[in-house]
Amino acid sequence: MFENVIAARMNSLSGESAFQVLAAANKLEAEGKKVIHFEIGEPDFPTAPHIVDAAKKALDQGRTTYCNSQGLVALREAIADYTLRYKGIPTGRDEVVVAPGAKPIIFYTICCLVNPEEEVVYPDPGFPTYESVIRYAGGLPVPIALEEKDDFRLSVRKLISKISPRTKLIILNSPSNPTGGVLTDGDLGEIASAVRGKDIFILSDEIYSRICYEGVPRSIATFPGLKDRTIILDGFSKTYCMTGWRLGYGIMHEEIARKMTQLLINSNSCTTHFIQVAGIEALRGPQDSVAAMVKEFTRRRDVIVEGLNSLPGITCRKPRGAFYAFPNVTGTGLPSGELAHFLLQEAGVAALDGAAFGAAGTGYLRFSYATSLDNIHAGLDRLGAALKKLPRR
Ligand SMILES: Cc1ncc(COP(=O)(O)O)c(C=O)c1O
Repeated sequence: MFENVIAARMNSLSGESAFQVLAAANKLEAEGKKVIHFEIGEPDFPTAPHIVDAAKKALDQGRTTYCNSQGLVALREAIADYTLRYKGIPTGRDEVVVAPGAKPIIFYTICCLVNPEEEVVYPDPGFPTYESVIRYAGGLPVPIALEEKDDFRLSVRKLISKISPRTKLIILNSPSNPTGGVLTDGDLGEIASAVRGKDIFILSDEIYSRICYEGVPRSIATFPGLKDRTIILDGFSKTYCMTGWRLGYGIMHEEIARKMTQLLINSNSCTTHFIQVAGIEALRGPQDSVAAMVKEFTRRRDVIVEGLNSLPGITCRKPRGAFYAFPNVTGTGLPSGELAHFLLQEAGVAALDGAAFGAAGTGYLRFSYATSLDNIHAGLDRLGAALKKLPRR
């Protein structure tokens, strides 16, 4: 009815299948079916009590007003200290932009840097928002296919072959959603050499940087000459189990930070005041809940990967970071989209079709193992029983 009314640019935005599958799963649950949820990418632990208390106290103190659009100075200072501590990058508070979630930093970065017809290189499979916003901004999406044989690390050779005079931005995401792949220091060094001296920026999506099973992943911004060319995206959702609080940030050159703040002023005015106070507590307070969560994710990863590998037609590499298993399901004989549908409807197991993360994700499913070991065991049992019902091919 409104086809001719809605602005044409809206057609370039796409949704996110995690939320679509969640809605379908919730519908089945409303009809009385028990569903095991592997679709949504959020830690299943509550926010640590000291962070919740800080928010309550801030509410009691009346921190309910508008505040600094770029982010509270005290929070930006806490983020700067954290960035030095965990990423080894000296950061000034004016280089930090606080936003309602990390996702807006993707939107703002692309809007700030990418002109129509400029190219943006990004990983495929990758977080769906990248391609959606590139198109929305009129940029040209240039996906780089990640391959299972490379442990889903981005091939530097392919990246170099995709760089053109029109390349404006390269998006990196390590540890990665949906594959759990992690770029090595060697990969990052080669990427840094490939872009150094060129008029190309990097959006380094480091939202899973604390959820890594083998050491601390390095940020590309630590390589000589790269800091001023990199926008680091990070946030509180995954590390501190704060998905619904909506708090994230970007770190970038001051000049870009000032422009990005204009976008924030025009869209949100500021990020919720008392939530930012809680963010300071998350960064400056005890970090033991993060370590405990990663330890638990390691156990779950090992169980789900072993379980998936024992199923007919499924093979799964061990993710090195984040909390997603990304098994190859081509051996089941069903296209991954059909298999995801079948598993939800027949077995009450909600997982995502890898193709929802880009064409190179076809033939894979994404399972978020941010759910209890009991659920993982029950889900694997259901998968095993459902796969037996598939006609042999
Ligand atoms: C790779 C990646 N980047 C960014 C985000 C957005 O995080 P937030 O919920 O803080 O907006 C997500 C969330 O799933 C993600 O997986």
